[in-house]
Formats: sequence, structure tokens, C-alpha cells
Amino acid sequence: MLICPVCSGELTKNGNTYKCSLNHSFDMAKEGYVNLLSGKHKAGELIGDNRDMAKARRLFLETGHYDFLAESICSHIGGNDNVLDISCGEGYYTDYFRRKTGACASGFDISKEMIRLAAKKYKETFFFVANIARIPVKDESVDVAVQICAPFSEKEFARILKKDGKLLSVVPGRKHLWEMKEVLYSTPYENNEDDTVYESLILTDEATVKSTVRLSTPEEIMSLFAMTPYYYRTSDEDKAKLGSLPYLETQAEFTIRTFTRR
Ligand SMILES: C[S@@+](CC[C@H](N)C(=O)[O-])C[C@H]1O[C@@H](n2cnc3c(N)ncnc32)[C@H](O)[C@@H]1O
Ligand SMILES: [Zn+2]
Repeated sequence: MLICPVCSGELTKNGNTYKCSLNHSFDMAKEGYVNLLSGKHKAGELIGDNRDMAKARRLFLETGHYDFLAESICSHIGGNDNVLDISCGEGYYTDYFRRKTGACASGFDISKEMIRLAAKKYKETFFFVANIARIPVKDESVDVAVQICAPFSEKEFARILKKDGKLLSVVPGRKHLWEMKEVLYSTPYENNEDDTVYESLILTDEATVKSTVRLSTPEEIMSLFAMTPYYYRTSDEDKAKLGSLPYLETQAEFTIRTFTRR
């Protein structure tokens, strides 16, 4: 399924190295992932989410509070499917899909920190470092592409999907984390609904899933907060308001949009 990020030729694995016919080669890291970034990114300059963000995400997802979302996605996946988790972060959902459905799941992210954590923990799931702008995966090779709260690349998503494949794109719903926003902001705003129309992808289904999340320790509250975009836009004073709460109950709401190829 993997192709060379430099010339797009097929990659074959020999020992711990992936190579194309033009001899571009990519070594597996000791954790078992492969870095398929090319060009200036290859040097390892820090891009994507950093280590603290990766750790906060792991801490929170492992509480199971977002498993309702993972379960809902699993209901769209068949046991024989080839699943690609796009911008998979630290791999919690990717491995969840494999475990729960038996599908062959792999994930990639532009952040080496995220992928390092993912590969270290989830040994039965394959991970690689790559950019959605140039996904090193063969044309028409993916049954189900999953993209959770991450950037969108229409052309690439359409290219990698099989003719009858589908893309499950997850975005935060209108009232996602509403009660957390009420603590942080005097006038909280609802999230906008995304109604972008794409040229090469057809929207075939849209569903909202929600759950009440009970965060029972300040650590849980802060780990959820640290994985939101608000974390970087909130003053220290407002952060302290959240940090002083002993617990927090908030709604979590996601929209799952299913697309097929046009
Ligand atoms: C909000 S996180 C979501 C991670 C994961 N899907 C989850 O829900 O746990 C967004 C992810 O997108 C990744 N990302 C950002 N730009 C990217 C790009 N150009 N290519 C691949 N991944 C990217 C980040 O590194 C980060 O891990
Ligand atoms: Zn090559």
C-alpha cells in the first residue's frame, strides 16, 4: 500500500528498510514506525503536534470518555477493510478500530512525537510519519479513510480511496465542550457547522453523536483542555478558572460526515 514520497514508486520492505525501484530508502525507527516525509521536512524539524500535546491526548483518550465516538466509527468498518487513520495522533483510535473490528488499520501523522508514542504502544498496528498534502499511499487502495478533528486534503483523500471506499470525516459539533467553554469565556460561541461542498467527494451521510463527559479530577479536566485549540488562545487567568475546578461535567458532540468518491 505504501509508495515513495519522492517518486511515488511502490515501496518494498527489506529487513528494516523500505525502498523504491529508484533506491530512495526509508529506515524503520526502533519503535517500528517509518518516517515517509520527504524534502525539507525530512531533517526532523519539529512540525505537527509536540510531545506535551501528544501526552495530553493520550492521557485523556485512555480515560475512555471519547469511546462513544470510536464505537460509532467502528459501526462503519468491516472486518476485511483496509482502514487508514489520517492524522491519527498518538494512535488510540487507530488501534481501537483494529481491535474492535478486526480490520487492517494503519495510521499516519505529520508529528513524529505522536507517531513515536503510537508505535511504541500499539505494536499490532502500523504507523508512519507523513503529510496529508502528499499521502504516501497507492491510488485507490483504501476501503475506509478516517479523519478525526484534523486538516482536510480533498484531492489526496479522493485519490487514495477505492472506487467504493469511503471517508469518515469527524468534526466537533455545535455544542462540543459547551460547559467547558462556559467556564473559560464570558460569551462562549457555538462551533460552526461545516457545509463545504467538494468537487471530488460526495457527502452521503451526516450523523451527530454525543455524550456527557464527567471529568472527575483536575488532571482529567486539564488533559482534555490541553488537547483543544482553546488551550493556546486562553489567558493564564482564564486557564486558572478551569484548573481550580474539582470536577466538570460537559457535553461532547461530534459530527461524522461520510463521503464517497465522485
Ligand atoms: C487535533 S489532532 C487529532 C489527532 C487524532 N486524530 C485524534 O483525534 O486523537 C490533529 C492532528 O493532525 C496532525 N496534523 C496537522 N497537520 C498535518 C498534516 N499536514 N499532515 C498530517 N497530519 C497533520 C497533528 O500533528 C495532530 O496530531
Ligand atoms: Zn522513490
